[in-house]
Amino acid sequence: MIDNKKVLFSGMQATGELTLGNYLGALKNWVTLCDEYECFYSVVDMHSITVRQDPAELRKRARNLLTLYIAAGLDPEKNCLYYQSHVSAHAELAWILNCYAYMGELNRMTQFKDKAAKHTENINTGLYTYPVLMAADILLYQADVVPVGKDQMQHLELCRDVAQRFNGIYGDVFTIPEGYLGKVGAKIMSLQDPERKMSKSDENANASIYLMDDPDTIMRKCKRAVTDSLGCVSYGEEQPGIRNLLDIYCACNGKSTEEAVKEFDGKGYGEFKMAVGESVVTVLKPIQERFTQLSTDKAYIDQIIKNNAEKANYYAQKTLRKVQKKVGFPERIR
Ligand code: TYM
Repeated sequence: MIDNKKVLFSGMQATGELTLGNYLGALKNWVTLCDEYECFYSVVDMHSITVRQDPAELRKRARNLLTLYIAAGLDPEKNCLYYQSHVSAHAELAWILNCYAYMGELNRMTQFKDKAAKHTENINTGLYTYPVLMAADILLYQADVVPVGKDQMQHLELCRDVAQRFNGIYGDVFTIPEGYLGKVGAKIMSLQDPERKMSKSDENANASIYLMDDPDTIMRKCKRAVTDSLGCVSYGEEQPGIRNLLDIYCACNGKSTEEAVKEFDGKGYGEFKMAVGESVVTVLKPIQERFTQLSTDKAYIDQIIKNNAEKANYYAQKTLRKVQKKVGFPERIR
């Protein structure tokens, strides 16, 4: 608890262009939840280097991502928006937690298996212990709730297990966090292969809608989205493409699936896809405009980065000191 409010933590990697999946699965919920909780939203640049990055590009993307957090509606005066690499306690706690996480647990992580298969030339130890750093992120702020997309739930379970193990040995050190999944949009699928999730790293640009795509591109991608030959808009298992478009549509405009299915009863896929595209444009346009405007104000963004890193450090250090004491590190002499 901070000032009688429960704590929320979440983060995003500054790798690749952000997709509509990142927005509907995470960022959009962050904005909805931000008044209720004391929030920490990190740009997790330390996670990003588990895959090779161009340094200048990473720096630029990290700044753009932080700016995008604000453009999407997170008030930087109320929410702590910061770079993970500016708070060294993340790395320090991750080391300690590494000594409490089992290899057997990490071996089960599907994201590690996927990424290892994709980057066979660079299966580094950071990629393997990635979920432990993620646990450190969350536990440092004693987070009660962690809003993420479905793909991160396995990592969150691991975080809970490690925290419970640690608490079992040393007493109630960590708050055990709960995952938060949005009602709709927790897993947005690729527009070209609706059996796979929409991903920043997809090589096919038509598979994902990027947050910075212009309206024409969004409409074109929706029109080209893979569907089926059944010819009716319904939410059935056998229509993964249509189901995904319905999820996107409903997540963008707040309608229920039943309402949407009714709305397109008897209508063709062409008309439905146009409506999906328009709903996405309506959501993204104001964010893009605000992003462009904010990007010109260097001094403002710099100030936010500085102030929020101080705030994050303050809370992170509190937990880290407590943990260091528990595991038996010698006290500092002041
Ligand atoms: P990342 O950067 O891959 O994704 C950021 C957020 O977007 C969600 N997401 C999706 N949601 C719905 N549909 C999709 N197709 C989709 N693709 C991505 C993710 O679930 C995530 O919530 N390891 C994390 C970042 C992280 C983190 C943390 C998150 C590091 N530390 C601590 C929460 C708490 C990641 O790589 O997310």
